[in-house]
Amino acid sequence: MTDDFGRIVGINGNMITIELDGAVFQNEVAYAHLDNKRLKSEVIRIRGRYADLQIFESPTGLKVGDKVELSGKLLTVELGPGLLTQIYDGLQNPLPKLAEQGGFFLKPGIYLKALPRDIKWAFTPMVKVGDTVRAGDTLGTVPEGIFSHHIMVPFSFEGKYRVKQITKPGDYNVDTVVAQIKDHSGSVKKITMLQEWPVKIPIQCFRKRLKPGEPLLTKIRILDTFFPVAKGGTFCVPGPFGAGKTVLQQLISRNADVDVVIIAACGERAGEVVETLREFPLLTDPRTGKNLMERTVIICNTSSMPVAAREASVYTAVTIAEYYRQMGLHALLLADSTSRWAQALREMSGRLEEIPGDEAFPAYLESVTAKFYERGGMVRLNNNAVGSVTIGGTVSPAGGNFDEPVTQATLKVVGAFYGLSKERSDARRYPAINPLDSWSKYSSIVPLESLQLARKILRDGNDINQMMKVVGEEGTSVGDFVVYLKSEYIDAAYMQQNAFNDIDGATPEERQKYVFGKIVIILRTEMAFKTKAEARTFFQTITQVTKDWNRAPMDSDEFRECEARLDKLVEGVKKRA
Ligand SMILES: Nc1ncnc2c1ncn2[C@@H]1O[C@H](COP(=O)(O)OP(=O)(O)OP(=O)(O)O)[C@@H](O)[C@H]1O
Ligand SMILES: [Mg+2]
Repeated sequence: MTDDFGRIVGINGNMITIELDGAVFQNEVAYAHLDNKRLKSEVIRIRGRYADLQIFESPTGLKVGDKVELSGKLLTVELGPGLLTQIYDGLQNPLPKLAEQGGFFLKPGIYLKALPRDIKWAFTPMVKVGDTVRAGDTLGTVPEGIFSHHIMVPFSFEGKYRVKQITKPGDYNVDTVVAQIKDHSGSVKKITMLQEWPVKIPIQCFRKRLKPGEPLLTKIRILDTFFPVAKGGTFCVPGPFGAGKTVLQQLISRNADVDVVIIAACGERAGEVVETLREFPLLTDPRTGKNLMERTVIICNTSSMPVAAREASVYTAVTIAEYYRQMGLHALLLADSTSRWAQALREMSGRLEEIPGDEAFPAYLESVTAKFYERGGMVRLNNNAVGSVTIGGTVSPAGGNFDEPVTQATLKVVGAFYGLSKERSDARRYPAINPLDSWSKYSSIVPLESLQLARKILRDGNDINQMMKVVGEEGTSVGDFVVYLKSEYIDAAYMQQNAFNDIDGATPEERQKYVFGKIVIILRTEMAFKTKAEARTFFQTITQVTKDWNRAPMDSDEFRECEARLDKLVEGVKKRA
């Protein structure tokens, strides 16, 4: 801590202006003194002897002349064993511990250590005295949940070091010195299991970035088959209020084939977050059979919590995700909702009296959004292992209008776009992803040709449906009507999925390939119907049979029976040469 102090000369909402003589730097953390409390804040602009700071707490009670202490540090997070299972606020305060200390109504000015200091971790050294190491290299490991957590040379260390001392296997707290390393000049650094890292700077201790290719399976059919995301890729989920953004993210977080999930609940209603907090510890991880929370970190900053900390919360979340990537793990970060984060930026930009861009969002909204999503990615680490951070963010455009700035800024940088529609959610077609609005740049688990066929039928079916609204069913030919029915069939029998059914709710890759293959055969079949009524009855029947099929465990008698029935029904309507 430095002895630098400033004095408040102006207060505008949660922005304060201070005057100071000493040094100050951009994004430096400062504490405003209020009675005997210290309110955390961050320098966001410096103008000569004046600096503007955003306060991460309610500024009520602060007055001109109050003292502000500058810390000489950037906003950092603690990284080390014990992150998993935690529930943090945007500044990485463990919320359950805060509640224990200060009661259920959070009091301003209380900051706790992010990592538990009382837990002992079973340390196993991985290097010997005399070994050469550099930033990001593993010095030892400790078991954390189902993973082996790497204790690494702090990422901020430059150049090569020689191991001078390494602690023998045993149980230690995070702040125990487990190694000492020496640089070429002979100066010795002590390493504990914990390191700090400034949240706004990406962790880049890796050899190179790889192109995301391997699919990240979510067991959600419309995603994996039609709009896949790759490990290390990015996606966004824009949708109007109540269209199912939060539920979709929860489904992804449960089933996605990743190691670690970081959930950043940013500016959403407290009630929903409470639901997540209640539900998660009760869920079992489909991969390990253990509690899902064991591989999850939740960062919450609800709408009722201070606005400025929203910004911090997304950076805190992505930094933790990058940290696990350094261990060669696959991390998934889900941010809900990035619109609330953008609104926090807008609020601050307004206070700074910057020139507003579209809808009063700051002109730098796009670059800030791009920088955030760029922190995702798949990388080859120095030890040749591969790790990834996949980022998915929801966007809540007012009125479901995708032309607004946050959606537009996001879709320019992400690799997949899942547009939710009110129409579909009102019709209870869940997940309410609109197949005509959505897209993905990543490759699917099914053959491209089949996908193109299904997409064409979906598009044509939609056109025919629009036409029928004008000319009526009578004015439509049987052939066109069948195309429309085929498009409805893909939708009802494949893309819609009942999240509350164990089998239908999570479809593994093999099963998706198998079922989709069958559906494509049906789509390719030329059918002979005399009347539209006959066609409609046929598609109603096969839709029902396919839905039953989706609910049957693979390799069960029921599964084979449904498939046989489907084959027989289709055979019955085939056009004969
Ligand atoms: N896949 C689904 N299966 C079943 N029900 C769903 C599904 N998705 C959404 N719902 C229903 O829709 C409701 C609203 O969904 P959700 O809270 O995810 O919307 P949202 O888009 O996050 O809304 P907001 O913009 O208000 O945050 C849920 O409470 C649930 O009843
Ligand atoms: Mg929501």
